[in-house]
Amino acid sequence: MTLPTAFRLDNKIAVITGAASGIGRGIAETFAQTGARIVVADLDPAAAEAAAKSIVESGGQAHAMAVDVSQESEVIAMFEDVVRRYGRLDVLVNNAAIFPKKPFLEVDTAFWDSLQAVNLRGTFLCLREAIRHMKASGGGAIVNISSVSSMQAVVHHNGTYNASKAGVNSLTRTTALEFGADGIRVNAVLPGGIPTAGARAASAAIELKGPIMGEGRIPLGGMGDVQDIANATLFLASPAARYITGQLLAVDGGFLIS
Ligand SMILES: NC(=O)c1ccc[n+]([C@@H]2O[C@H](COP(=O)([O-])OP(=O)(O)OC[C@H]3O[C@@H](n4cnc5c(N)ncnc54)[C@H](O)[C@@H]3O)[C@@H](O)[C@H]2O)c1
Repeated sequence: MTLPTAFRLDNKIAVITGAASGIGRGIAETFAQTGARIVVADLDPAAAEAAAKSIVESGGQAHAMAVDVSQESEVIAMFEDVVRRYGRLDVLVNNAAIFPKKPFLEVDTAFWDSLQAVNLRGTFLCLREAIRHMKASGGGAIVNISSVSSMQAVVHHNGTYNASKAGVNSLTRTTALEFGADGIRVNAVLPGGIPTAGARAASAAIELKGPIMGEGRIPLGGMGDVQDIANATLFLASPAARYITGQLLAVDGGFLIS
């Protein structure tokens, strides 16, 4: 498919967290196809290397970086390395997250803190460091991968995750407001259920109860896929969305309005 120039990311430096698998990998591959130079940032170094290699073998530009987004020193070092290597940072996608489920009355502080450390603190740390560098180089675009679960409870046993993603929505809006004048746009994509390996494992580990995203709850029919999320993320990251900031875009087949 040939995209109009405004929807492309030619020569943009794009850091994508959690890009070694699932939705993040799909975003990385899609951005690379439109000319971006990708930093595949992930906790799993071998999988990150494999994802970067595959992008390069397909004609794109990418390199892997091992990072745990919950660790402040690692996040600072990663963005410093990117800017040292390329001179600037244009795009960040905050995609890395974990989604273990636990019945609410069994959630202890260790479970709560370990999930928030990745999903909410990790998003905060990457936002802070990316914005620091984007401000210095005249602007940029950030897309946070949130979830429809930030707006609607969807299933039981997901309270810790839902709260983390509601926090991501809030960070999206507050940073969009605070840094608009610096030429930095911040938006969020809220995926519906997307069958990735990570999502399947999290759902298989516990008996799911609740309305779930089943038959009849999705006006457009079945489940979406990784490419649906990657396409929306590309739009928000691209110059085509130059007048859009602080928005929460559900990519869910209409689930949230059903
Ligand atoms: N799959 C879905 O149904 C769904 C629905 C709504 C929202 N989301 C969101 O989409 C995003 C991606 O989900 P997915 O299904 O592709 O997940 P996934 O588990 O398939 O992939 C997540 C990636 O993040 C990496 N990661 C985990 N912890 C990390 C850390 N501390 N530092 C750096 N990297 C880390 C993992 O190694 C993995 O490569 C997440 O933010 C998730 O909350 C997914």
